[in-house]
Amino acid sequence: MNFEFYNPTHLIFGTGKLSHLGDVISTYGKKALLVTGGGSVKRNGTFDRATASLEAAGMSFAECDGVEPNPRITTVKRGARIARDQGCDVIIALGGGSTMDAAKVMAAAYYYDGDPWDMIHHGQPRPHVPTRALPVITVPTLAATGSEMNMGAVISNEQTKEKSFVQAPCLYPKAALVDPELTLSVPRDQTAYGVCDLLTHVTEAYFNGVDATPLQDRFAEGVILTAMEWGPKAVADGRDLEARTQVQWASIVALNGWVNAGTNGGFPVHMIEHTLSAYHDITHAAGLAVINPSWMRFAARHRSDKFVQFAERIFGFTAKGTDDLDCALQGIDRFEDFLKSIGCPTRLSELPVDDSLFTRYAQDTLRVLHDKKGRLPGRPPMSENDIIEVLK
Ligand code: NZQ
Ligand code: ZN
Repeated sequence: MNFEFYNPTHLIFGTGKLSHLGDVISTYGKKALLVTGGGSVKRNGTFDRATASLEAAGMSFAECDGVEPNPRITTVKRGARIARDQGCDVIIALGGGSTMDAAKVMAAAYYYDGDPWDMIHHGQPRPHVPTRALPVITVPTLAATGSEMNMGAVISNEQTKEKSFVQAPCLYPKAALVDPELTLSVPRDQTAYGVCDLLTHVTEAYFNGVDATPLQDRFAEGVILTAMEWGPKAVADGRDLEARTQVQWASIVALNGWVNAGTNGGFPVHMIEHTLSAYHDITHAAGLAVINPSWMRFAARHRSDKFVQFAERIFGFTAKGTDDLDCALQGIDRFEDFLKSIGCPTRLSELPVDDSLFTRYAQDTLRVLHDKKGRLPGRPPMSENDIIEVLK
């Protein structure tokens, strides 16, 4: 293993922490841009509680609402413009991953005179990697992406039908104020998708990473087992604060760099899913739930030992040897059953995709990201035909 670990986000975690928002913000700026999604925070009282805390701390704020799921670059531009026009010096992202991602890119766009889409990784030309951003404070209302404590953001361009990512150290939020109570109102389907998203973040690193990462494997298995224990409880009873708390912490750890430190793998399932969402505005983790088990069956033929370990340690199967493909496949079946049991789709026919576009989906995915041989990074690296096979 050969790696660096850096995560400067100050994590403030616990029930009731929302009331500290004003104090936290006042250490980073005087006027905040408060970024929100399609209105859930206004309907459930979170917005009023957040603004009351800001006012109590003497903070003023401007608003950018209406960030859509699969946030669009046009929304990013609108938010950056408001921040400039209103003289904001700090950004608050109050919402799900979409709101947090849009807010992060607004923060970088604030300092960038070119088109903010230049910052998003979408093949050639090479993206403009931002080096400067307004301070961002994330306040997640949905446990899923881990965006609250990482340096990534995923943005869509509806005109070009592209959805892709930007990663830059300046995008790490200064602080993540994580109050699990805010997730009590998340609907059942989004709760299940959140569990699937966090599981996929961990399985991508687990299966695509380099060999010999025993401690990272154990971290990953811990996150998987925790999510599989508490996720169904949060799905069954959305008011179960303990379950919400455990799922939210798992979602943060799954993608804040700690579990996958040193694994150095690709995220092929995510890359394929982003293409489908770009075309059809699919909920991110609904797409992952379909693609991940299919990708696992494809990848297990190339690296059965890791899938055997997964089957043994997660589901308690006993393999005949480290290359026991039957055991590996049984583990994948059980994983898929779990996703189904919490209400995720597991077949492409359950999503609004177009079977006649498989070749285009594969080509678009590769256009966004490919290695020197033109393949999608991962274990194994995937050709156009491999991607089509997984979709089929
Ligand atoms: O928009 P509002 O009205 O707030 O409603 C949202 C939205 O409809 C709703 N919601 C959020 N919190 C709620 C709530 N409803 C009731 N009560 C609450 N407390 O849930 C819906 C989905 O929200 P969204 O933010 O889109 O979901 P999620 O957090 O799953 O974020 C998905 C986005 O993040 C990207 C995805 O690609 C997708 O665009 N990702 C970002 C990553 C990152 N930055 O590291 C990594 C991920 O792999 C992912 O790609
Ligand atoms: Zn994801």
